[in-house]
This record gives sequence, C-alpha cells and structure tokens, in this order.
Amino acid sequence: MSAVPNDVPALTADGPLVSLRDLNVAFHAPGKVIRALNGVDLDVARGQTVALIGESGSGKSVTLRTLMRLHPPRRTRVGGSILLDGRDVLAMDAAQLAACRGPVVSMVFQEPLLALDPVYTVGAQMVEMMRRHEKGLSREAARARALALFERVRIPSPRRRLDAYPHEMSGGMRQRAMIALALSCNPKLLLADEPTTALDATVQIQILLLLRELQQELGLSIIFVTHDIGAAAEIADRVAVMYGGRIVEQGSMAQLLRAPRHPYTLALLRSRAHGAMAKGTRLQTIAGSPPDLAALPPGCSFADRCLLALDACRAAVPAMAPVGPGHAARCIRLDQTHAQEPASA
Ligand SMILES: Nc1ncnc2c1ncn2[C@@H]1O[C@H](COP(=O)(O)OP(=O)(O)OP(=O)(O)O)[C@@H](O)[C@H]1O
Ligand code: SF4
Ligand SMILES: [Mg+2]
Repeated sequence: MSAVPNDVPALTADGPLVSLRDLNVAFHAPGKVIRALNGVDLDVARGQTVALIGESGSGKSVTLRTLMRLHPPRRTRVGGSILLDGRDVLAMDAAQLAACRGPVVSMVFQEPLLALDPVYTVGAQMVEMMRRHEKGLSREAARARALALFERVRIPSPRRRLDAYPHEMSGGMRQRAMIALALSCNPKLLLADEPTTALDATVQIQILLLLRELQQELGLSIIFVTHDIGAAAEIADRVAVMYGGRIVEQGSMAQLLRAPRHPYTLALLRSRAHGAMAKGTRLQTIAGSPPDLAALPPGCSFADRCLLALDACRAAVPAMAPVGPGHAARCIRLDQTHAQEPASA
C-alpha cells in the first residue's frame, strides 16, 4: 500500500477531503497581473464527485493545477488555503508535494499524449511510478499490479498493451491508460480536466461510465472539469459554476438542473436547452465576452452580459448567498431569479 507523506501533519483528522478557502491565484505577466482565481471556496467530501463548469478562461484548470501546485512558482502569487486530506498543500516543500502526487492526488488530462512520456511504454511508466512511491515493491509485483489495472479499465489485450508506447494507442485507449496510470498509487482524489473532450461521442460516454464505476468501487473523490453539462450530469454529485475566477453558484447536480438561480447558470442552461449547446460542444453561446482577468471590474463580473444588471451590481462583488440546503449563488437579485423558467435537464 502506498504511504501518505506522514511528515506532513494532518491539521484535521476528518472533514472534507479537499477544502479550498479564499483561494486566489494571480499570474504576473509583463505590464499586467492576470487574476485567474478570486476567492474560491470549495469543499469536496470523501467519495464525492464535483463538476467544475464554466466558459473558457473561467479558472477551472487553474483550480486543479493549483491544488497540485503545478504553477511556475516565480510568476505566480497564491493566497488563501488548500487543505488536502487535512494537510496544508501551500505549506508543503518539494519532497512533500512529490510524495502527495500519486498516493493522495492524481490527474487525468484532456490529451494524454501531452501528459504521458512518449519515450517509455505506458507499463514502464506505471511500474516506475509505483516503485517510486512504494519502497521494496519488486518490478514483477508492480507489473502484475499494472496489468490488473489495465484489465480493470478494460484495455483489450492488456498484457501486450502494457508494452505499447502512448502513440501506438487510439485516443480512447490512451485515455484508459492515463486513468490506469493515475490510479497506480491508489489516490484518494482524482482530478480530471476535460478527460473526454478530445474523444468521439461513443468513447466519451464509455470513459464517463468507467470513471463513475471506478469512483464508486474505489471510494474516490473526483473533481471533474467540463464544458459539457450533459457530461457533468452523468457523473457528478455536486456542481460549482465558475465565472471570471469565482464560483458563482454551487449546489447538487439536481438543484442546478432543476432550480438554477444565478443568471449566468440560467443562461448556460438555456443555451443548452435551446439546442445551441449540443452535448460535447463548448459553452460559448452567451452574448458578450468573459471579463478581462487583468482588469476585473469592482462589482459583479457578469454585469456586462446580465439582463438583470442594476447599478448596484457594479458597486461590489456580490457575496455567496444561500438559496437552499447546500445550494448558494453569488448575485444580489436572487429574488428575481425564482420566476425563471427552469432548464430542461
Ligand atoms: N501560467 C499562466 N500564466 C498566465 N496566465 C495564465 C496561466 N495559466 C492560466 N492563465 C490564465 O488564467 C485564466 C484561467 O485559465 P484556465 O486555464 O483555468 O481556464 P479554463 O476555465 O480551464 O478554460 P478552458 O475551458 O479554456 O480550459 C485564463 O485567462 C488563462 O489565460
Ligand atoms: S449581481 Fe447583478 S449583474 Fe451580477 S448576476 Fe446578479 S443581477 Fe446580474
Ligand atoms: Mg481548462
């Protein structure tokens, strides 16, 4: 069994597996500061799948990468806190982080070709990863475990495929191999950044079903990034809608689909319901553009695109307000969004 880095003291023994509080990320570029995350609060319970949805540039991938501390440290300012399995991720040194990546948290990317090492077979990468994290594990035992994982993710002819290079596999098979690699060290948390977007529709659904099965079987927590609300509905228990580096609405999948309250969520769901966003397409059908993260307005960053906007919306960033059990939205006109027509799921 892989060892969790025990030199990093757990601050809490139980509670959510992931707890982000007031997470801020700013990238310092020549002449500007890109404020990619602006006060993100998010909890992921043990064994829960949370989908992050939102338009391009809303901060979904930055949230995942920051959780794994994968940013260039010199140009990036990170504020707030990240607790992962009770441990303070922002306080970890390089060795502690390396010990976490694999046994605690692992990531599946949209394009496995960019994430897998092209010069090693997938089997060799899995064996290497397992042996790095588990002292005394023999090469043979690691290979047997890799084979079992290839079988589990239903890669055909798994013994032969273990010795294949990433470019020798089809897109769907490569994503299965990437999932097997990500599960090599029995992580508690899987971060999946648009894992099905590059695949054709039939393969997409197979990979989603596989992720759901694995989540239930292994008791994994998953943060699943997608542009596709249909994909989120297949797999997620909860959803956080991101806009301009903030979470603007959060709730259970059912609450978001049946009773969305933030005007942005309503607009997203309407564009889908009206066929403008067929399954698998990107969420870019709302008139207007996302805010410039290098010049964020002082108030609600959706104001320029919102049909309900008032002058008061532009004065200060609205706080998250509860609208139901475990359901909250960041808008000062929630009294006006009751009457909105719910989207068809
Ligand atoms: N290393 C970086 N340096 C500068 N800006 C960055 C960096 N990484 C991300 N950004 C900016 O941060 C913002 C959020 O990016 P992010 O990748 O999280 O968006 P996203 O929601 O994942 O979008 P997409 O759906 O297109 O993947 C974008 O404006 C992006 O250009
Ligand atoms: S705060 Fe105002 S501008 Fe922002 S979403 Fe609500 S109504 Fe629209
Ligand atoms: Mg992204």
